[in-house]
Amino acid sequence: MKITLLYGGQSAEHDISIISAHSICQAIMYNYYQVQPIYITKTGQWLKAPLLEGPSTSPEQLTLTAGDTAHWASAPGEVSSGVVINPGEIKVEGEETIVFPVLHGPNGEDGTIQGFLEVLGLPYVGAGVTASANGMDKIISKRLFDNSNIPQVPYEAFDKREWRESSEELIQKCEGSLLYPLFVKPANMGSSVGISKVSDRQELAEAIEVALKYDRRIVVEQGITADECEVAVLGNDDAHVSEVGKLLKESEFYDYEEKYINNQVIMQIPADLPEAVAEKIQDYALKAYRAIDGSGLSRVDFFVTSSYDVYINEINTMPGFTPYSMYPNLWKATGLNTRDLIEELLQLALRRFNAKQELN
Ligand SMILES: Nc1ncnc2c1ncn2[C@@H]1O[C@H](COP(=O)(O)OP(=O)(O)O)[C@@H](O)[C@H]1O
Ligand SMILES: [Mg+2]
Repeated sequence: MKITLLYGGQSAEHDISIISAHSICQAIMYNYYQVQPIYITKTGQWLKAPLLEGPSTSPEQLTLTAGDTAHWASAPGEVSSGVVINPGEIKVEGEETIVFPVLHGPNGEDGTIQGFLEVLGLPYVGAGVTASANGMDKIISKRLFDNSNIPQVPYEAFDKREWRESSEELIQKCEGSLLYPLFVKPANMGSSVGISKVSDRQELAEAIEVALKYDRRIVVEQGITADECEVAVLGNDDAHVSEVGKLLKESEFYDYEEKYINNQVIMQIPADLPEAVAEKIQDYALKAYRAIDGSGLSRVDFFVTSSYDVYINEINTMPGFTPYSMYPNLWKATGLNTRDLIEELLQLALRRFNAKQELN
């Protein structure tokens, strides 16, 4: 059986995706599988690498440049090359494969790549089209969480047209229902891109303009002083949850630089929480997973105040898989090593694909 690994991509999380792909390549059982890496460049080219019959050596090895032939870098300083393909060519007639789209953010975990794989008729790891889109869209997911009675911080949502027509009223509405500081977010982005924390009316208006550069739809949320806790979900209809983890961080705003580049975030697993609070978080995580129609996997993120009030922040349908990512580490602490986790994800992909075939 082949695994087609899609990684890289055009979102802000391009580099994380490569590191995740490398971790996954190291955890695959090569006595059962061959890996076909497909690297999506920052400009959107799809490059087909040579087959991998064993673990990759580094994230750099997986970072390809376009060439006439595909070959792996064999010495330090050398670069691997891949052949440019049309995306549809990842489907090879007569060949069985499971696609692992290790892509984060827009065009990765928002349902677009999932829809493409559905059209190609290929099984793939993770959430389907609807769940991916639901999870990525902060307005839709908030509506779904409300519907499932999962607590969240107060928020307002509106679009560009409403803002252009009645910005004064919208500012008043936000100030009427929310207390500063506020967080302004584009509805569809991820990795803190376009997000601002504001503490007055003028900053609010400016932050909305910034967020509108990334999306036509905006969320304004009440800021909260809280710890950030995360839990991993794994499974299809039979989904189960991991231990709860907590992020121990230095600065107050957990942004892209800090989250990924400086690697300053320390994970505490299991989180130091009363058992009843951890159970509540796990219960909400499963509810959130079902609310978006999750399958395969998700990481669900929460705010937990010093008096142990719990609010859901968001659900990520394709969390990072780097050695310092929360998702694989939560499972490790729950007794599932990354090799078994990857195998389970592949099996879940096949089961979901087969169940869907039976429906048609
Ligand atoms: N309402 C809020 N109150 C306090 N901190 C927040 C709030 N919303 C976001 N943050 C901070 O900003 C970070 C990024 O926001 P998040 O909604 O998770 O965006 P992304 O989808 O980019 O991960 C969070 O991890 C948290 O540190
Ligand atoms: Mg987040």
